[in-house]
Amino acid sequence: MFTLGLQGSPRKKGNTRALLSAFLNEVERLGGVTRVIDATRKNIKACVECGTCEKKGYCPLDDHMQPLYPLLWKADLVVLATPIFFYGATAQLKALIDRSQALWSRKYVIGLEDPGRNWRKGLLLTVGATKGKNIFDGAVLTARYFFDAIGASFEGTLGFRQVEKVGDIEAHPTALEAVRKRAAELVSPFLKRKKILFVCRENACRSQMAAAFTRQLAGDRFEVESAGNEPAEQVNPLMEKVMAEKWVDMAYLKPSAISDLPAGWQPDAVITMGCNVACPIFHGVVPQDWELPDPANESIDFMRNVRDQVERRVKDFIRNDSL
Ligand SMILES: Cc1cc2nc3c(=O)[nH]c(=O)nc-3n(C[C@H](O)[C@H](O)[C@H](O)COP(=O)(O)O)c2cc1C
Repeated sequence: MFTLGLQGSPRKKGNTRALLSAFLNEVERLGGVTRVIDATRKNIKACVECGTCEKKGYCPLDDHMQPLYPLLWKADLVVLATPIFFYGATAQLKALIDRSQALWSRKYVIGLEDPGRNWRKGLLLTVGATKGKNIFDGAVLTARYFFDAIGASFEGTLGFRQVEKVGDIEAHPTALEAVRKRAAELVSPFLKRKKILFVCRENACRSQMAAAFTRQLAGDRFEVESAGNEPAEQVNPLMEKVMAEKWVDMAYLKPSAISDLPAGWQPDAVITMGCNVACPIFHGVVPQDWELPDPANESIDFMRNVRDQVERRVKDFIRNDSL
């Protein structure tokens, strides 16, 4: 279970940082994996509305935003954390938010569906100095549309008023406890999922497709990883193409090695694709093999056929799940 925190306060020991840390520490205590991206320490350029993402589906600006796209898509839960600056998010975080337009375009202009979209969740954590009734309204609207762009359901806002000086949030009577409680509520269903590992040699075609279909169809029941024992440089472009024919978006994926799995990640099922890989031994798990043909260096029709076989196998697996 992966939670991504997006930190927007420029203050070193600010209130927002403390809130986000309390949230993420609780996620880790419960067994989740977390990562923070501090937007105020990155050089994320402002969107220039060049229109490339609407035509081609990616942002051409070469900066610290690029490694963030795959993280956003890997995340089960995204936490947007910002102080209120002039009724909205800070400029540094707003630049990151605006650049998520590339993901919006992939979905709403190009029509592709990221497999995590059905289950990903988003939460806004925020603080403001005044006690005004409407101080969070601007940030809440921005968060709502950001979470839609990145394919996350908006699970609401934890906002704290009259928080101004460094240390105010620690002195707040309920804030840190409320944040910990919300963290537990949001991550518990994810932590109950069974863990499935799909393995093939290069992690470029079959195991990527199997992971994507499983995430898309049953990401609420299964936490899915895929890996290869000789990972290729990149996923197979023909595979991306045939998945796009089914409107499944395979962008931002990179083949990874079994050793790249999160530390201590123990699958409940290991499924090999049929390429006689030397599968790692996970305690108490007998790998099952789906005996699928290898589509590497084959025609697009061959790839389509393998895609359809993978989809059928995934559907059967989900239907007959006895884990
Ligand atoms: C440029 C700027 C604009 C601000 N605008 C607002 C505002 O519109 N409403 C509000 O309640 N607080 C506003 N504040 C106060 C901050 O939200 C508040 O100090 C907050 O606790 C800072 O959080 P941090 O410690 O996480 O950085 C503003 C502060 C700054 C520096």
